[in-house]
Amino acid sequence: MSTNLLAGKRGVIFGALDDKSIAWKVAERCVEEGATITLTNAPVALRMGGIQELGKKLNAEVIPADATSEEDLEKLFGESQEVLGGKIDFVLHAIGMSLNVRKKREYTDLKYEWMQKTLDISAISFHKVMQQLYKMDAMSEWGSIVALSYIAAQRTFPDYSEMAESKALLESFARSFGYHFAEKKVRVNTISQSPTVTTAGSGIKGFQEFFDYADKMSPLGNASAEACADYCVTMFSDLTRMVTMQNLYHDGGFSNMGMSPKLLEE
Ligand code: NAI
Repeated sequence: MSTNLLAGKRGVIFGALDDKSIAWKVAERCVEEGATITLTNAPVALRMGGIQELGKKLNAEVIPADATSEEDLEKLFGESQEVLGGKIDFVLHAIGMSLNVRKKREYTDLKYEWMQKTLDISAISFHKVMQQLYKMDAMSEWGSIVALSYIAAQRTFPDYSEMAESKALLESFARSFGYHFAEKKVRVNTISQSPTVTTAGSGIKGFQEFFDYADKMSPLGNASAEACADYCVTMFSDLTRMVTMQNLYHDGGFSNMGMSPKLLEE
């Protein structure tokens, strides 16, 4: 159901790889709510995934950019402003990748070269995105920037490995840059999402078991990618103008649970 919450707004959405991606659902919802958008992903992902198909469906230009490259980001935001016809009202950062997790290195035996790449892709890219937008003065007043995070930033989930540190850094960047962006009346937040079945999510060891556990632990159950898209729409809309520098849990209540009788009964 559309209520035209984003009518006339211009957005840039990072991270739609395939139709399971959270960013894919966010892109669909934003357009349904009246926004015009550009889609972006790393050049290699553009070749592998179905983003072109999404672009066609949503009438959205697909612009390749490696989010770790300042040069690519400058080009992306320049082109996006041209295509969309003005400054950008909202940006979604939905990027995550761990080399050590992908290559199955234990947390007690991490390869630091890979860790640095992981931090660059999953967290520092968020700073790079914001710094580029800030320097280019590319955001509209009352614009909104959101990145997706996970509760392993606060609590220990052993198999999440170095992604825990990536998310802690990501959330810290939202607070620190949120302060500076407030001068331009732009807000910055992270949304801490439930485990969700996607390419990035399923790469974590024991993901399905953990997904089921979290579903039982959360009084409302796990939040779906579609529900996350709804929440992102509200964060991009004018109804949340004074929310900034926050990490917002979107997890069916998981983050405030201590123990669940449902799980004990099993
Ligand atoms: P996904 O695998 O569909 O999306 C991850 C995206 O990151 C892909 O589109 C990938 O191409 C992109 N990416 C990787 N390296 C890049 C680079 N150098 N430049 C530009 N893009 C790059 O998976 P998902 O789950 O939709 O991930 C989106 C975000 O949501 C990530 O930040 C993830 O950590 C976060 N998240 C996911 C949860 C889950 O359980 N799936 C739970 C909480 C947060």
